[in-house]
Amino acid sequence: MADRLTIARPFDAHLHLRDGAMLRAVLPETTRHFARALIMPNLVRPVVALDDARAYHARILKALPAGAVFQPLMTLYLTETTDPADVATAHASGLVHAVKLYPAGATTNSASGVRDFDKVRPVLERMADIGMPLCVHGEVTDPDIDIFDREAVFIERVLDPIRKNTPGLRVVLEHVTTSDGVDYVRDGGPLLAASITVHHLIINRNHILAGGIKPHYYCLPVAKRESHRQALLAAATSGNTGFFLGTDSAPHTDALKENACGCAGCFTATNTMSCLAGIFEAADALDHLQAFTSENAAGFYRLPPDPATITLCKGEPVTYPDKIQTDDGPVSIFQPGFPLHWKVTP
Ligand code: NCD
Ligand code: ZN
Repeated sequence: MADRLTIARPFDAHLHLRDGAMLRAVLPETTRHFARALIMPNLVRPVVALDDARAYHARILKALPAGAVFQPLMTLYLTETTDPADVATAHASGLVHAVKLYPAGATTNSASGVRDFDKVRPVLERMADIGMPLCVHGEVTDPDIDIFDREAVFIERVLDPIRKNTPGLRVVLEHVTTSDGVDYVRDGGPLLAASITVHHLIINRNHILAGGIKPHYYCLPVAKRESHRQALLAAATSGNTGFFLGTDSAPHTDALKENACGCAGCFTATNTMSCLAGIFEAADALDHLQAFTSENAAGFYRLPPDPATITLCKGEPVTYPDKIQTDDGPVSIFQPGFPLHWKVTP
């Protein structure tokens, strides 16, 4: 087994960078290894218009560590009042690469999201015309639906009807967590893809709930039972171009995670590549790591492959700090629960 692997510099197709002090603290954790990332728009005041995206893009560039080469790809937050013409202008600007659909109430800062999916039909039709991808948080919010079923029900009740009503719409099912989602995307043709996180490849719901509650493993969509994790693993390591890395690295301070009503989100930016190399090696699929981390998302978002590379080396267990420090407080780094032997060489 090779102990050195060089791959195209990765693309994180789903990243939360936040703003202000948190942005400054977490950005270097991503730029150290990643060439580009699709930046989620769920700020406290969401990124709803091209001007918001421009301003946020500028703040990200300003926060870049010296010498970092990194392309933030911006997204707009879909609301029931989003104007189709504004979305088309944003896409044509080259700055905005996708629109993100949050069902209202589904996750962090989703209160301005969509309640009535019919209201956004004109936007989706325009996006289908211009080939602009829709990134979907795929969970229903109906309190009658069990939280572990919310993705499968969303696919059946919301996503599939949207796709049938909007021919040509390009869709990414974000942070897919179920075998239902994997099957749906695998059979969905070239207009449909899914991002997969690192943590959903590693943890199942036992990791969150058995032997004491582990708030740092709580994220949305919540991790499901082991058979679903196995389906995600098979999809990620298969080389299938419809599946790619979107870390969903979502920093919250420890005070907000270790809380009677803890926030959802796992902070994985720091050790994503070490975790993935270990997972792909264990699946005997290191030859598909580059497709998953660097090529497939670039293909779907119609970006040229990044010419730069990173090299991973295998050796003694790699250690990472438990936390990063931010001016808002410490943020714990995701603990995979197994030793990491692959390290990105500087
Ligand atoms: C994300 C966040 O904190 O912004 N949280 C999460 O659990 N994944 C939002 C999201 O992507 O759902
Ligand atoms: Zn997310």
